[in-house]
Amino acid sequence: MLSKDHILFKGSLSSLPLEIRQEYIRLAQTRYRDRFNLPPPNSGHYNALLSLPESDSFERLIVIAGSKDSLIGYASSFRNTKYDNTDRAEISIFVIEPFQNTGYEFLLLSELLTLLSEKTTILTFSTREGSSVEQFVRTLGCVLAFTGRWSVKILDRSKLESVKKIAKQRLLQAKSKGFSIIKIENGKFPRNIYDDVISMYETLWRDMPSEDLDEEPEVLTPERFKERYDILLKTQQRAIAFLAIHDATGKPAGITEAYLSSHHPSVAFQDDTGVLRPYRGNRLGLALKTQLLEYLLENTNATHWMTQNAKSNEHMWRINEKLGYQEWVIHKTYQIKRESLLANLETLKR
Ligand SMILES: CC(C)(COP(=O)(O)OP(=O)(O)OC[C@H]1O[C@@H](n2cnc3c(N)ncnc32)[C@H](O)[C@@H]1OP(=O)(O)O)[C@@H](O)C(=O)NCCC(=O)NCCS
Repeated sequence: MLSKDHILFKGSLSSLPLEIRQEYIRLAQTRYRDRFNLPPPNSGHYNALLSLPESDSFERLIVIAGSKDSLIGYASSFRNTKYDNTDRAEISIFVIEPFQNTGYEFLLLSELLTLLSEKTTILTFSTREGSSVEQFVRTLGCVLAFTGRWSVKILDRSKLESVKKIAKQRLLQAKSKGFSIIKIENGKFPRNIYDDVISMYETLWRDMPSEDLDEEPEVLTPERFKERYDILLKTQQRAIAFLAIHDATGKPAGITEAYLSSHHPSVAFQDDTGVLRPYRGNRLGLALKTQLLEYLLENTNATHWMTQNAKSNEHMWRINEKLGYQEWVIHKTYQIKRESLLANLETLKR
């Protein structure tokens, strides 16, 4: 019978003891492979994440099972503590294969729940479709709230010349419709439109389909916006964005942004893409992502460009399909009220 004796560490992620860091990183890399079927970032990336100082805007907790030299699994949570959705914790559970479905998922989650602050009333679990964790959270009565499609575009350098031509054509098409496109590195947006960029991002975040997730509108302040880029810098990632400007007003109209890490040179990670409502349907989304594709082919060694979108996001999928993305893996997010989960766990214990 599993008990608290099988728990090795319980607390904030940033206070993970040094002597289990390397084993934890190995476990996190195994989970990355399991989630994405791609080579994971190297240990430098995880070390940087672990070294991030405590923040007053988010909380990262973790419970680890196993012994010092052989970790079995973990349950972790991420919660915003400042700007919005402070009542929701996003929970991840991972147990290595020989120990799956042997009670560790249950133990880890029960222990994590004892760490979560009283403010946490909604829990979400992101699971790979068909995984043992998906089965586990369904048994707990969690309800499917969001289906995410991770897709990947293989970056083939032999296509650079043709991509360059298409990127140029799409730039000219955008210009003929009244938009210019500029490249922005590491969040260094022009000062005169900095506040407009922040408010564009906030609008776009609120426009992204969240399906049945019980979310409140996100709030983006200049302080939070800056923190985003500070964290990228501290974790040795670069942000490359292409920004569309509406020529008539000089205001931002849309953006696409990707992250690149020297600790993970094979994978370019796509972050947000969005075009403000009044400007949609002008192929701006496609034009922006084509500029990014050209940049990735010409300036990086990345072999895979990965992105996630709500499966229901048809407009985004049309753009990605045109760029040559393939559906890679489906992730499903389940949701439950904390009190219901606690009641269901009690019933299952009996
Ligand atoms: C997804 C999004 C970026 C598309 O931007 P866009 O500049 O309008 O995109 P495009 O003009 O390149 O069009 C993409 C496809 O969607 C279709 N489309 C775009 N707007 C449409 C509308 N209002 N009605 C019907 N179809 C539309 C286009 O016809 C095109 O499909 P097609 O090439 O098969 O005809 C934009 O809808 C958006 O910002 N959505 C909110 C943010 C979001 O969900 N981002 C993705 C998650 S990261």
